[in-house]
Amino acid sequence: MTSPPDSSSFNLTLDEAALKAAATHDLDEGAITPASSPYRNAIVGLLNGALATELVCILRYKRHHFTAHGLASPAIAAELLVHANEETAHADLLARRIVQLGGEPDFEPNSLLQRSHAPYDDSSDLKAMLRADLAAERVAVEAYRQMIALIGDKDPTTKRMLESILADEEEHADEIKDWLAQ
Ligand SMILES: [Fe+2]
Ligand SMILES: [Fe+2]
Repeated sequence: MTSPPDSSSFNLTLDEAALKAAATHDLDEGAITPASSPYRNAIVGLLNGALATELVCILRYKRHHFTAHGLASPAIAAELLVHANEETAHADLLARRIVQLGGEPDFEPNSLLQRSHAPYDDSSDLKAMLRADLAAERVAVEAYRQMIALIGDKDPTTKRMLESILADEEEHADEIKDWLAQ
């Protein structure tokens, strides 16, 4: 007969040394504790890539919103502005988290397009606009999924933030798919 597993193997104990280090080292770093630092720069790098993508998405949606006015579907033009505003909220979340992690949010316009995961688009036809927006949303969905998998439990706060942004991008992609089908 096998004996029941030793219950001590299920103990959940905190890392006391990390707690002590959090209280005593680098207090001027705010929420960044010594234990969170090994991946900090790498995570800031990922977040800056996402920030560049969001900023290009804002520009693309704004361009599409203003030029789609007067085309067949003013309702879709209005929705494109809603997306632009939601991408702005994402950019703000990313920039705020980068600063919290002790990094520098990169708003440099000269390199924005090279650093963005998705391209800009200035199509004049509504369907072409929507196809470009859908492609960009799908790129964003894939990039956020990869970032969430890479970060995992290395930074739970950043992971939760990225999961909420991912949910919005999936909704954006679904909405555009429906508009294209109209
Ligand atoms: Fe976004
Ligand atoms: Fe989006």
